[in-house]
Amino acid sequence: MAKGVKWVQPDPKRKNWYWPTQEAKERAWISDPEVYEKAEADPEGFWEERAQELHWFKKWDKVYEEAPYEFKWFVGGKTNLSYNSLDRHIEAGNGDRVALIWEPEPTDQPGRVLTYSELLEEVSRLANALKEMGVGKGDRVGIYLPMIPEAVIAMQAVVRIGAVHSVVFSAFSAEALRDRMLDCGAKVLITADGYYRRGKPIALKPNADKALSGTQVEKVIVVQRSGSEVPMSMGRDVWYHDLVKDQPTECPAEEMDSEDLAFILYTSGTTGKPKGVMHTTGGYAVQAHTTCKWDFNLHEDDVHWCTADVGWITGHTYINYGPLLNGVATVVYEGTPDHPDYGRMWQVVEKHKVTVFYTAPTAIRMHVKWGEEWPAKYDLSTLRVLGTVGEPINEEAWLWYFKNIGGERCPIVDTWWQTETGATCVQSLPGIGPFVPTVAGRPFPGVRVAILDAGGQELPRGEGGYLVLKPPFPPALLRGLYGDPEKYKGTYFSEYGPGFYFTRDGARIDELGNVRITGRVDDVMNVAGHRLATAEVEDALTQHALVSEVAVVSKPDEVKGEVPIAFLLLKKGAQPSDDLKRELIKTVDAHIGPTARPAEIYFVEDVPKTRSGKIMRRVLKSLVRGEPLGDVATLRNPDSVEDLKRAVGYTG
Ligand code: WTA
Repeated sequence: MAKGVKWVQPDPKRKNWYWPTQEAKERAWISDPEVYEKAEADPEGFWEERAQELHWFKKWDKVYEEAPYEFKWFVGGKTNLSYNSLDRHIEAGNGDRVALIWEPEPTDQPGRVLTYSELLEEVSRLANALKEMGVGKGDRVGIYLPMIPEAVIAMQAVVRIGAVHSVVFSAFSAEALRDRMLDCGAKVLITADGYYRRGKPIALKPNADKALSGTQVEKVIVVQRSGSEVPMSMGRDVWYHDLVKDQPTECPAEEMDSEDLAFILYTSGTTGKPKGVMHTTGGYAVQAHTTCKWDFNLHEDDVHWCTADVGWITGHTYINYGPLLNGVATVVYEGTPDHPDYGRMWQVVEKHKVTVFYTAPTAIRMHVKWGEEWPAKYDLSTLRVLGTVGEPINEEAWLWYFKNIGGERCPIVDTWWQTETGATCVQSLPGIGPFVPTVAGRPFPGVRVAILDAGGQELPRGEGGYLVLKPPFPPALLRGLYGDPEKYKGTYFSEYGPGFYFTRDGARIDELGNVRITGRVDDVMNVAGHRLATAEVEDALTQHALVSEVAVVSKPDEVKGEVPIAFLLLKKGAQPSDDLKRELIKTVDAHIGPTARPAEIYFVEDVPKTRSGKIMRRVLKSLVRGEPLGDVATLRNPDSVEDLKRAVGYTG
């Protein structure tokens, strides 16, 4: 078990409750709970103070402005995300501090360490190259990169020149990439030849090629990573190293309006089509900076490791912008947690003296399965704060993480947030606490939440309902869905009107004001920490020529949190078989990516439907979960249920 400074101590009265020690409080940015009351009394003033910690080319005229469905932060202010991430620290004399630590997957390859000055040079070179290609303010640039330094460099370069990035997770398929590039109208894509996974080079460029034919993408920049031979399309494709080689290492950061678009990130909603969540510059910078600083109590010598992929919002905010805005070192790890063995993550913690470790409950549950002997081999005493994100954490995983990784010394900061909120919104701060399994904590200072019932009535403490955000809306909250203002209103504001942002999560608040998240209340799943809509998986499976109808529901899974389960009706004459199952999995891989593979495919004769012909997913969900089915007599086809019970082995 790791030794080191004790940052938490148990509550003498409540089992599994922990509070910061005196030492932790003394070293924390925030240890006086008064911060909550003050911010509650004046949230705009609170965020304004936070904004002053960043660099503005021009100060804002007004802190916050709101109209129905629309709100703005730091109105009239001019700033730049990349300037704040890099130049600001260099100007303060900290250019020699480590900014980025890259750990490649193959253990025999050298990694890379970049100081703030070096990172700025790399970013500037690429920024200049992009400008030379004609990329300007507001233009969209796609990024389809593995976990290599260039992923961070590319994002920084794009926002530096005022362009807008749209990062696509590198495990997403060609088709998923294509949809996103078409939707956001990107002219340039930055990708790589390939990357390493479990010791083998995996090609990535062929996916990009497949995705881009027939799209508006004019230029493709290719990072050489795996050395795989890849065809280069003349006139369209250019090697990254050739492109940046002779570029100047200085590139002034564009003065961006606080409300200028910084990036678009696609995420799953309840329909089959992912939506382009829009994040703007000033408010996002302020909340990313403040939450990263306060959640993890970041100081200059911290080594921050967020294990997410840059393709998700967690990677955007807590690998790239959050740590760099705070001037600390951020770790970028290329590989998986189980290669070359189950101790890999802990070996990396020891090697780089990681102080903040931020991961997902699904990853922790995997480590629980692999056993505590793996972390026990390594010195984890540098760790100070542990974080979790992405789904509710179960008590067993929390306690395991607390004991085996944190050595019962480190707080676990369970952060609730979403792609849409851009940065964390609910958590316990390291100098305040409490740290309690399954309880995320209090809304961040300056963030207002409420629990509503279906009719929109605010519920008292202790009662479960729907979690909403109230105005002033947090600075990093999305400003819209790209190209679809109606969908934006419909998705977030149709239930309770423009005064409440509906999170689509269930929650309740305890008597101390701590929020416990109970999970999504729509058809969005959390599969191994990846957000996915059941409708997306259905749409993918329907693409197979032999499929006539599909219903996908989620089922709880011990490790992944949730997994998709598919019920399929085949077309006349088609025969169910294991080969067909394999083909269907391939179809899902091709349309979305392997993360969306159903854990189980049932070939069935019929699925339960209402009299109007709608599939009753509720019944299917109860069937796979072994829960009571409720009243099925009103179904159009109640007999279908008996067959399904046999198919899934239902005994409930
Ligand atoms: C869930 C990830 C419980 C929630 C940052 C939310 C959580 C969805 C937590 C967003 C948490 C995230 N406890 N549930 N600490 N954090 N969630 O957009 O259901 O990939 O709505 O953003 O993850 O997932 P997304």
